[in-house]
Amino acid sequence: MKNVIVIGTQWGDEGKGKIVDWLSSEADVVVRFQGGHNAGHTLVIDGITYKLRLLPSGTVRKNKVSIIGNGVVVDPWALIDEIKEMKSKGVEINENNLILSEAANLILPYHKEMDEIREDSAGKAKIGTTRRGIGPAYEDKVGRRSIRVMDLTSESNLDSRLDAALIHHNALRKGLKKTIFKKDKLKKELLKIAPEILKFSQPVWKRLNEFKSKGKKILFEGAQGILLDVDHGTYPFVTSSNTVASAAATGSGFGSNGSNYILGITKAYTTRVGEGPFPTEQKNEIGNLLGSRGKEFGTVTSRKRRCGWFDGVLVRQTIKISGVNGIALTKLDVLDELDEIKMCIAYKLNGKQYDYLPAGAEDQFKIEPIYETFPGWKESTKGIRNMENLPNNAKKYIYAVEDFTEAKISSISTSPEREDTILVESPFA
Ligand code: GDP
Ligand code: IMO
Ligand code: MG
Repeated sequence: MKNVIVIGTQWGDEGKGKIVDWLSSEADVVVRFQGGHNAGHTLVIDGITYKLRLLPSGTVRKNKVSIIGNGVVVDPWALIDEIKEMKSKGVEINENNLILSEAANLILPYHKEMDEIREDSAGKAKIGTTRRGIGPAYEDKVGRRSIRVMDLTSESNLDSRLDAALIHHNALRKGLKKTIFKKDKLKKELLKIAPEILKFSQPVWKRLNEFKSKGKKILFEGAQGILLDVDHGTYPFVTSSNTVASAAATGSGFGSNGSNYILGITKAYTTRVGEGPFPTEQKNEIGNLLGSRGKEFGTVTSRKRRCGWFDGVLVRQTIKISGVNGIALTKLDVLDELDEIKMCIAYKLNGKQYDYLPAGAEDQFKIEPIYETFPGWKESTKGIRNMENLPNNAKKYIYAVEDFTEAKISSISTSPEREDTILVESPFA
């Protein structure tokens, strides 16, 4: 039996939340394994919208276990707020259906402040982060000075862990002429919320392996997208975690034995939030149309998303990097009104043609796309749930995406609603 790993194949916001929620009807357990509350995953169920940041997108369904793995960076206050918000919408969340890894690293107020200080002073080198403290928190994890969930269990331990973190942060803050961060107030605040966090804390690797031996179906929910991966993305305009499918193993302790189905969520066009290269960006009426029809505003920061044509070269590249088995193509309906639709099939730079995106940001900013043009279908696909009912030109475009990216289409999404999805081949089968 296969477990399924869902990841984004572009720059995030591909519609992972919708697909994870839809697929989780078949899963028993849904696991987040990287990122933090920089993610914003939107589900629309019978007209009600849920926006999830830290909680896995299976949370909304009854009788599913949601897991936040060790690879996730957790702002404890953000988690408490999100649980409250979901409860107010009638979603049940308790110690039996939510598990938080005891080894997850915490995002603390000095991380968020450092994120902001850096962004505000970076000038042209600004990344356009979500300002949630994601980067500084992952730096502390790798720097071995992080506070983890388990550190909340003992005051003396928390005290010495905070000392270790603040030696570093206060040296930086002094250099940047910022106020010194005081340990005692933060320690007190952390100890106050500790019971609310610790009640969910468990060894996730152990629980996951128990679920596995009972034959439970496990769905791993990636955040961000492969082009934001710290190794494989458009560095330095990336997030600070690995967003590729293999991060599911390190970020949860599940182990990787190759029997998973990797589902790459792929938008039928391209968007990006924040700074960085974007070869097929359309800063014109096409981009505006995609943005308004696709409601392309950030779930987390409400920023306007940059929009452009589908970049076949990039998606083929990320599919290879992550070993994607099948694509869930989303937001097809957004293209309904277009006379013609373009797909990037190669690049040119300094008189040379490229079939991949070179790794340097300088080249990535300059590179020019070469397009193939497809006729539009000029009729509504919104809400279509059956392949046969799609217009012929829409099918041709879908098959062109499949051919060019060399990955099978597993499903097609035609509206934000959970059930407005065409199943081609179930990843769990
Ligand atoms: P995620 O971060 O990958 O989960 O994606 P977001 O939730 O940030 O952004 C995707 C947006 O597109 C959300 O507003 C979804 O409700 C919406 N959406 C998802 N699938 C479709 C679709 O097939 N058609 C349309 N029109 N909207 C969709
Ligand atoms: P979901 O899971 C789109 C982008 C930010 C910025 C860069 C670094 O909803 O697809 P960070 O705060 O992570 O240090 O910001 O990454 N970014 C996202 N863009 N979707 C996301 O998540 C993102 N999470 C981070 O805009 O460019
Ligand atoms: Mg999002």
